[in-house]
Amino acid sequence: MNYYIGLLSGTSVDGIDAAVISFDENYIELVCSHEQKFSGKLKSNLQSIIKSQSVSLKQLSDTDAKLADEFSLAVNTLLEKANLSKKDIIAIGSHGQTIYHQPDGNLRNTIQIGSPHRLAAQTGITVVNNFRNFDMALGGQGAPLAPLIHQKLFTQNNKNTAVINLGGIANISFIGTSYKQPIGYDIGPANCLIDEWNFIHQKTEFDENGLWAKNGQVNKTLLEKMLNDNYFQQPYPKSTGREYFNLNWLKSFEGEFDKTSAGDIQTTLTHLVAASIAKSIQQQPHTIESIVIMGGGANNGYMQELIEQYSNIPTSTSQQYGYDPDWVEAILFAYLAYKRINNQKLNLSSFTGSSKALLVGDIIHK
Ligand SMILES: Nc1ncnc2c1ncn2[C@@H]1O[C@H](COP(=O)(O)OP(=O)(O)O)[C@@H](O)[C@H]1O
Ligand SMILES: [Mg+2]
Repeated sequence: MNYYIGLLSGTSVDGIDAAVISFDENYIELVCSHEQKFSGKLKSNLQSIIKSQSVSLKQLSDTDAKLADEFSLAVNTLLEKANLSKKDIIAIGSHGQTIYHQPDGNLRNTIQIGSPHRLAAQTGITVVNNFRNFDMALGGQGAPLAPLIHQKLFTQNNKNTAVINLGGIANISFIGTSYKQPIGYDIGPANCLIDEWNFIHQKTEFDENGLWAKNGQVNKTLLEKMLNDNYFQQPYPKSTGREYFNLNWLKSFEGEFDKTSAGDIQTTLTHLVAASIAKSIQQQPHTIESIVIMGGGANNGYMQELIEQYSNIPTSTSQQYGYDPDWVEAILFAYLAYKRINNQKLNLSSFTGSSKALLVGDIIHK
């Protein structure tokens, strides 16, 4: 069996995802998965680095090492759970934690932490990491990378399909007959603003099933103003992150923001996700026949309901294709490791915008 591990912590900073994936030419199977919460202050340290966009070198170095230790623990726990040993795993595809992403201008760069060297040393398994930097150096956005796996897993009956990952940020891939090469880009915020707003007012990690949002009223003027933001008008390729879509962005809609109740803001933010998705789909020159959603937001029934309502297109979760919505991203990074270990170049240009096919990721041999 060709076993690889996909390992990441996404922009939501909700925890570490680790999964064993088995690959052969035509079949990709999720063998075992393990979700691990951050211990002690790691979560708040990561959040504060991302939020403040400033950090001492000591704090950066310590967090890089500490995160690698927690990644290693997640991998070792996963192996136990799967009843596998390190010898069974060809490589770990480790995305790390993005703490900074700046895809535009002359000094475009992206920073993921969680030392891959420490991870390789502590697990005894070869690690592939650094999936975004070479793409960016070749003129790409370094994101999204998901269209590769979306095309592989969700092409069915060649229907033109929009595949949407609802993580902290929402990214979309268009696949099917009209898309020989998948198109893809970051749409904008999915859960990042919703989570932050929810935490301030409800003191819980997320708005379970969108219940709080469902109780409120959408502020249509505020929604319209948000949708008029420049990012939503920009042509792709494009990518974004919490450097842009954060509380300051929300507060910049003075006037409307100030006179709207906290609950109604939550409703409006949830509508924003669905409305921006519908807008993206309408901008396509081809008719899109179905929508597949995944990522944590696929567990938010209200969000799914709104996506279907705004787009007027049948919407299902990746579960209907046999893939648990919470584990598609881990499959992606395991797949990238599989491609890199087999020295297969990948052409990401139709979604990241990079100039040529490249070997994606760096290898740290065990
Ligand atoms: N039951 C649920 N109800 C509503 N939202 C949920 C639920 N489960 C997960 N989520 C949302 O999904 C987010 C995590 O999604 P995830 O795909 O892990 O994002 P990322 O890749 O950015 O880490 C949570 O922060 C939360 O906002
Ligand atoms: Mg996550």
